[in-house]
Amino acid sequence: MELLTAIKGRRSIRKFKPDKVPKNLIREILNEAGWSPSWGNTQSWEFYILTGKTLDEFKEMSLEKPSTGLPPSPDVYMPENWLPAMKLRYVEVGKVVLSTLGIKREDKKSRDDYYRDMATLFGAPCLILACNSRDLAVEYPMLDIGIITQTICLLAHDKGLGTCIMAATVRYPDAIRKIAGIPDDKRIILGIALGYPDPDSPLNNIPRQRAEIDEFVHWTE
Ligand SMILES: Cc1cc2nc3c(=O)[nH]c(=O)nc-3n(C[C@H](O)[C@H](O)[C@H](O)COP(=O)(O)O)c2cc1C
Repeated sequence: MELLTAIKGRRSIRKFKPDKVPKNLIREILNEAGWSPSWGNTQSWEFYILTGKTLDEFKEMSLEKPSTGLPPSPDVYMPENWLPAMKLRYVEVGKVVLSTLGIKREDKKSRDDYYRDMATLFGAPCLILACNSRDLAVEYPMLDIGIITQTICLLAHDKGLGTCIMAATVRYPDAIRKIAGIPDDKRIILGIALGYPDPDSPLNNIPRQRAEIDEFVHWTE
């Protein structure tokens, strides 16, 4: 696939078909993504792949946890404060998703159903958890994770797969550690839901906005 087509064509997938992704294909994607740049070529990332029974357990846990009353405690702090223009965009995505599903703001039951769908990865049969060692600094290794995450998503798209990068998947890292056998000394940074997209789902066709270039580029001469 041509690069620009891949960059513009990749989009967050929020409805997956149940079909499993062959292990070889997941290996191929991660092997190729390993060519991503990183600080001093440190390649500080690690990935845990959840499929099958492990993923079923993960999904059960994700559905149950919110009702336990225990607050989420992600390894990576979830920021509440964004600049106003950014907050607008963030709120807008939520609104577009809910209105696409025909859900009114006051309809708590339908909103909860959507969040349950999110907890179960929109039906994805695979979750890639991006992790790194707690012995590392936070900042640059986190950039490395961001860079390889985009590479994974582009490669997946190129191979006819869909992805959704999901902070929502890593809100309960201690429970995930138990389910997936991830050692305590790893930070669980983000999850990437992976699977075959349902192309007809309205959620996979929502309009997406991007800022004009002059809103985020400053020239000096
Ligand atoms: C770090 C990160 C975390 C995200 N977490 C979630 C999430 O928990 N749930 C979700 O539906 N989308 C999540 N997204 C997807 C964004 O909402 C999405 O990338 C953004 O709206 C732009 O849309 P696009 O990916 O379709 O271009 C996340 C994206 C990033 C980069």
